[in-house]
Amino acid sequence: MNKIIYKLFFAVFLLLISCDDGDLHPEGTGEAEGLKATMEVSFSGLKAWPSAYQMVLAAYGNDTENPLMSKQISVPKSENDIVVLDLNGLPEEARTIGISILTKGRKLVYNYYTYDIGNATEDVVLPISQINVASFDRIQHQVFDNYCAPCHDAGDKAAAGLSLTDGKSYMSLVKVKANLSATNKNRIEPGMPSQSFLVDILTEDIVNYNHTDVLPQEELVTLIKEWITQGAKDN
Ligand code: HEC
Repeated sequence: MNKIIYKLFFAVFLLLISCDDGDLHPEGTGEAEGLKATMEVSFSGLKAWPSAYQMVLAAYGNDTENPLMSKQISVPKSENDIVVLDLNGLPEEARTIGISILTKGRKLVYNYYTYDIGNATEDVVLPISQINVASFDRIQHQVFDNYCAPCHDAGDKAAAGLSLTDGKSYMSLVKVKANLSATNKNRIEPGMPSQSFLVDILTEDIVNYNHTDVLPQEELVTLIKEWITQGAKDN
């Protein structure tokens, strides 16, 4: 009997030691061998924070679509918050650091910012302090390129005479009269989502080709509205 109790004590003792060891070296901190990249950034346009996907700080190698490592950025409480986050122990193959949106399967959707670490030999602090979550560049790449440009392409293939390809979309939209608006709205009226025909068309079935199911996520409409509310700037 004593032997069994002794064995039990010993087993518990071993268990405690191994747990302790785990606590001393939590994953991703402290003893990492590679370099460290730190982000100190505040975010504006928080209403457009992605929820179907994830906002991350990520390190990429030669494959710029699938990061080598990433850490999720939680939505800040306010636009004034400076979010500090680091990637510790960067793998040797790391070439760039990005502030990106990834799918839940960790594939790149959109890169807000990329920093080339090339052959860095010291830890880096990303030289950027502010990111607009509802930027026009994100709308171009996450929305127009994927869901609109196939029909609203350049030249005579542009449905309703509207081109939504990169480089043409902005001047085709902002303060330009919509051909199909019964109330003479502009396609985009800066500061006023409710006066922008592009928002109407994505939320109401009002033209021959119904657009209300074109976007797979409601939050992409929110993204466009937030960009318009902020003044529909070209950045
Ligand atoms: C499958 C093809 C197709 C796709 C995809 C598509 N559109 Fe359209 N779009 C059309 C057609 C066709 C019209 C003209 C409808 C009509 O004549 O009633 C149109 C009209 C419009 C208009 C009205 C333009 C004006 O001057 O009145 C806007 C704005 C618009 N689309 C935006 C978008 C946006 C933004 C997307 C992507 C989220 C998109 N469309 C995706 C086919 C498409």
